[in-house]
Amino acid sequence: MRVLNFTVNGTPRTVHLEEGRVMLASVLRDSLGLTGTKVGCGTGQCGSCTVVMDGKAVTSCTVPAEKAEGTSVLTIESLAEGSVLHPIQQAFVEAGAIQCGFCTPGIVMRLYALFTQNPDADDETIMKELDKHLCRCTGYETIVQAARLAQEKLRAAR
Ligand code: FES
Ligand code: FES
Repeated sequence: MRVLNFTVNGTPRTVHLEEGRVMLASVLRDSLGLTGTKVGCGTGQCGSCTVVMDGKAVTSCTVPAEKAEGTSVLTIESLAEGSVLHPIQQAFVEAGAIQCGFCTPGIVMRLYALFTQNPDADDETIMKELDKHLCRCTGYETIVQAARLAQEKLRAAR
């Protein structure tokens, strides 16, 4: 049986992989119970499964589990501190950018990667990142507002 060793949300984890093709999304959800990561399309199109791997946003449904060996992965479960939401999550609440919420964890994790690497990302860069996500509910306007508000909150906290 294949074994995957990596760090998830700051904790070293060892996962025994099933035979055949296993994707990171399935390891996170099915083996580790981190169901905050959502799987929509399963083909890299919708962005709902986005997590941060070694600082970069990746669609975990397209990352073979073996590729995560030795990496550090962050999921949506890593952001809030107890009952205190991360500023990006708080911005989504305040902007009213969550309806069914299925797309939200992926978008939040992509913005987390973006603003960690580039806190002063311009509007064009933010829009390019948001373009990698599909949302069936909000019409996107409030998501764009939430992204801008998140950037303001993170700047204020610097
Ligand atoms: S579920 Fe991974 S991109 Fe859609
Ligand atoms: S809030 Fe429902 S898919 Fe985005």
